[in-house]
Amino acid sequence: MKFSTSLIVTAAAIAAPSVSAFAPATSSVGSTSILKASALSDEGSELEPPAPPPLGPTLNGWTPDASKPCYGLPGAISPLGYFDPIGFCKDKDLNGVKRMREAEIMHGRVSMMAVVGYLIAENTPTIAYGFEHPTIANNMIPEVPTFGVMFPFFLAINITEALRANKGWVEPGMGPLFTLRENYYPGDIGFDPLGLKPAGADFANMQAKELSNGRLAMLAVAGFCVQELVNGQPVLADLPFSL
Ligand SMILES: *[C@@H]1O[C@H](CO)[C@@H](O)[C@H](O)[C@H]1NC(C)=O
Repeated sequence: MKFSTSLIVTAAAIAAPSVSAFAPATSSVGSTSILKASALSDEGSELEPPAPPPLGPTLNGWTPDASKPCYGLPGAISPLGYFDPIGFCKDKDLNGVKRMREAEIMHGRVSMMAVVGYLIAENTPTIAYGFEHPTIANNMIPEVPTFGVMFPFFLAINITEALRANKGWVEPGMGPLFTLRENYYPGDIGFDPLGLKPAGADFANMQAKELSNGRLAMLAVAGFCVQELVNGQPVLADLPFSL
């Protein structure tokens, strides 16, 4: 063993200078042959199969990629990663996946507002009641005046939904029903008064944050609603301490 090891070391010591001595010659030969090879591949490029066109335009840094789960949309967030146990997006085409994401982001946004609504409505004084709140948020809607509040409220929902439909969806009769526009990124309705939308790669990161907050809010507001149905108490009354 000793002999063979020293033999290898000696051989390497002999070989090393010879390698460096021949290196310039080798590399110049190499670069010539690389040039020849690239010239050949330029001529032969007609024979190569053309790359398949992307499934859709790149929107907010996202190019639909059929080889990735959900066509590579952001939102597979650690610790769960890609998490779709019920298979909402399994075997869906690109439009189907975009629709599911549109629904997810909209439910998330409504839930984030609902969480704030539960907490504020139960914890701020009102004109009718002052600081004493006899009503939990679950029961407030029947108490709100129909024409003074509910009608403008539903009108506002109607108008915003019409604007969103107009921005994101193919008109009925202009194509298959329930189809999102090709250049519409789910949830990107162009409403960003605070200028939070980042460009390029940061967009995916910001989108992941919005999705995380939205997903948490969906669970939270479902919890608020059920909890109030069960015990009839305002949300914060269930805290183990008083505020
Ligand atoms: C708005 O209200 C009108 C009248 O009820 C209805 O026909 C229309 O579908 C609503 N639009 C949306 C987007 O909900």
